[in-house]
Amino acid sequence: MAHTPNTTARRSIVDLRAAKGHEKLVLLTAYTAPMAQILSPHCDMLMVGDSLGMVVYGFDSTLPVTLDMMINHGAAVVRGANGTPVVVDLPFGSYQASPEQAFHAAARVMKETGCMCVKMEGGAEMADTIAHLSARGIPVMAHIGLMPQHMNSVGGFKTQGKDDAAYRAILADARAVEKAGAFAVVVEGVVEPLAAEITRTLAIPTIGIGASALCDGQVLVVDDMLGMFDRAPRFVKKYTNLREQIANAAAAYAAEVRAGSFPTDAQLYGVVKADTKKPARK
Ligand code: KIV
Repeated sequence: MAHTPNTTARRSIVDLRAAKGHEKLVLLTAYTAPMAQILSPHCDMLMVGDSLGMVVYGFDSTLPVTLDMMINHGAAVVRGANGTPVVVDLPFGSYQASPEQAFHAAARVMKETGCMCVKMEGGAEMADTIAHLSARGIPVMAHIGLMPQHMNSVGGFKTQGKDDAAYRAILADARAVEKAGAFAVVVEGVVEPLAAEITRTLAIPTIGIGASALCDGQVLVVDDMLGMFDRAPRFVKKYTNLREQIANAAAAYAAEVRAGSFPTDAQLYGVVKADTKKPARK
């Protein structure tokens, strides 16, 4: 079925929460204004993920990402999003110390970017913080399962919920973040039946990534689905191969510059066309 671009008026957090059971929510990450412009007609929300540390800045994890980076990219995405709701990640170290620290970070993000809500990693251990922010006008999207900011304590980017205890702990995390007031929850990198059970159990939308088609919505890192990297996790589907297209375009440009065939008159200013040139005076 052909996709109908989303041309509806700006939707609120309440609308998005109420979408559960009625429509699938479509999210992609975005880090720049032009990308937000391209993606926003097709998405219910744009996510400025701290994945930008790896995707845009070339770090090998999300840990070095700062609040200022998130704010700069968040503001750019909001400018390009044309009213599509934008969620901005709180980066590592900006919210875990206390609910007060999280409030200061989230308030800065919301004031300085104009985004609609923030996302934070963590389950039951972040419930107090989620409740603190939600009660103070900051909508929170939670993020459970595989949490990239925890890569050092869990030993890398590994599928979560494989054994019984881990399965039950993540289910408890899902219940805890909902009870604390999260309006939606990203469920990343968990075994499929767990993502399905969380989606059945919660009244708030689940946004899956490497989780289950049964989740209430899906998110992917945009550069992954555009094929910008040779390697991508198993859960990524490459919808195009932009890396190859960019390399081909760069190669064609390089060849023309070296051959002297770029630029042509079409790209230049004030060129007198041969057929309109006046005959030279005798
Ligand atoms: O940082 C990010 O982009 C994310 C999504 C991939 C869920 O957290």
